[in-house]
Amino acid sequence: MPDRAVWTTDDWDEMLYTCSRTQEYLLTSLLNLKYSIERDHHHTMLRSISSRLKSRESIEKKLVRYRFEVSAASACQNLHDIIGLRVILSYIDDIYSLVDALSTIENYQILEIKDYIKHPKKTGYRSLHVIGRCDATNGRPVLCEIQLRTTAMDSWAALEHQLRYKKDLPDSDYVNRELLECAKMLNETDIKMQQIHRYLDVQNQKESAAPESKRTSESRKTTRSSKAKS
Ligand code: GTP
Ligand code: MG
Repeated sequence: MPDRAVWTTDDWDEMLYTCSRTQEYLLTSLLNLKYSIERDHHHTMLRSISSRLKSRESIEKKLVRYRFEVSAASACQNLHDIIGLRVILSYIDDIYSLVDALSTIENYQILEIKDYIKHPKKTGYRSLHVIGRCDATNGRPVLCEIQLRTTAMDSWAALEHQLRYKKDLPDSDYVNRELLECAKMLNETDIKMQQIHRYLDVQNQKESAAPESKRTSESRKTTRSSKAKS
């Protein structure tokens, strides 16, 4: 990964404090983005945003697991998910619109995009992960991971995680196959929902492009027919 964050100090408290301020900054920036891009796209794109900061204990465990030196500086250098944000969006298209908009966040730079929507994991996992670098606090660059998913992708990931991480679950072909099948079905639903949304979008655009006189006569027709029904 190019241009990693470079930290020379090795103070855990300072590092975690900087990360939590950066996390706040990114949350606020994402909310601001939400308002500006929803105004342009005319629909509710962002269903929810959540975030978490890894604890020192969990950072240390991950450093040990990947055989990195265990220190605050090494964590900043080697881990890209000390700060994690998750954004749940309405449609697959919304995910790509938001990725494009991310680069407008000040002091934030995209380093890498892992597109598990175009290239799902073997498990069936779909999401788009954006690894970025944020220099929001006094030249202290921090890496962060933003996961973007639809509601369907999120519900699959949450349940799959819950099912698979039950400690006594044997490695079962049956479970793997069924979970993969669920992921495929949910993806088909996502694609259909996207198609319905695109269709309605085109209809709305046609309607608003129609001349005023036609729109008024159409709306009179609707009013008359609804009166006749009642
Ligand atoms: P780590 O998994 O954190 O070591 O990082 P990595 O570089 O391997 O990143 P990867 O993109 O594989 O996954 C990072 C995160 O994505 C995980 O912590 C999960 O939140 C999520 N994720 C990846 N694969 C799966 C999956 O098969 N199921 C579920 N539920 N979540 C997944
Ligand atoms: Mg992994």
